[in-house]
Amino acid sequence: MALVPFDDRDGFIWWDGKLIPWREAKLHVLSHGLHYGSAVFEGERSYGGNIFKLDAHSERLLNSARVLGYEIPFTREQINKASQEVIKANNLTDAYVRPIAWRGSEQLAVSAQHTKIHLAIACWEWPNLFGADRMKGVRLDIAEWRRPHPQTAPTAAKAAGLYMIGTLSKHKAEDLGFDDALMYTWDGFVGELTGANVFFVQDGKLHTPIPDCFLDGITRRTVMALAKSRGIEVIERHIKPEEMANFSEAFVSGTAAEITPIRQIGELNFEPSRLTETLKDDYEALVQMAPEEVEKRAA
Ligand SMILES: Cc1ncc(COP(=O)(O)O)c(C=O)c1O
Repeated sequence: MALVPFDDRDGFIWWDGKLIPWREAKLHVLSHGLHYGSAVFEGERSYGGNIFKLDAHSERLLNSARVLGYEIPFTREQINKASQEVIKANNLTDAYVRPIAWRGSEQLAVSAQHTKIHLAIACWEWPNLFGADRMKGVRLDIAEWRRPHPQTAPTAAKAAGLYMIGTLSKHKAEDLGFDDALMYTWDGFVGELTGANVFFVQDGKLHTPIPDCFLDGITRRTVMALAKSRGIEVIERHIKPEEMANFSEAFVSGTAAEITPIRQIGELNFEPSRLTETLKDDYEALVQMAPEEVEKRAA
């Protein structure tokens, strides 16, 4: 498949308060965000013109920046409005939306107190992360890298720097013929994927790791709300790797991955079945609803 580089496309990108032509959205090479990992970002999806859980994503973006020690110079309402504007400007209704904030070029050293904070928002068409075949279930390698202890990295933020171990783990998985990798936590429990959370099913109940050193996904919280409204018990707990053999179904949740069944983790096989199907259908119905309806059903 021919790759179309992201800098060789047309359209509009919202940048520091206004829409500019896609090809002009260029960053100087001496930007703090590039050298010192001071960028935070979001990944959102618009369905039928509505960005699913937009408010929660904009809020998480603002919080991620605060965790990295800076304030984005736009309010949540302004970010929401800009996100909607950028979709319209690009004539898209079903799209992936990527806001990103970063420290600018005023200083290029570890200390960056006087850098300007920038915010850009782009969007593009992006079908599911795992492609059209995903309902057969994805196959996961076990990553060598682990999610770091929260005192060694800002693990609650969706910070660009946290993705370097994700890319390393995903590349190794792909080289071995897997779709993605499951990462353990620093203390050896089941954590999450490189860009999504994980759920398991046992005796009709859902089990999912406590996000104490990795991202508490907005999709994860949505799945938990959907399960509860169906009377399905959700157990958040530390899950040991050896316990995975006891689970009958497993699936991933995330904005890019949506709800995708898991077929294999390392040597273990799973059979996508009823509970995964039900929650996937509920999620797919929810994302198509008007934002007010979404709030009523999965606040
Ligand atoms: C590392 C990581 N974990 C989990 C998730 C799932 O988060 P969400 O459901 O908010 O998209 C993502 C995707 O943003 C991610 O990149």
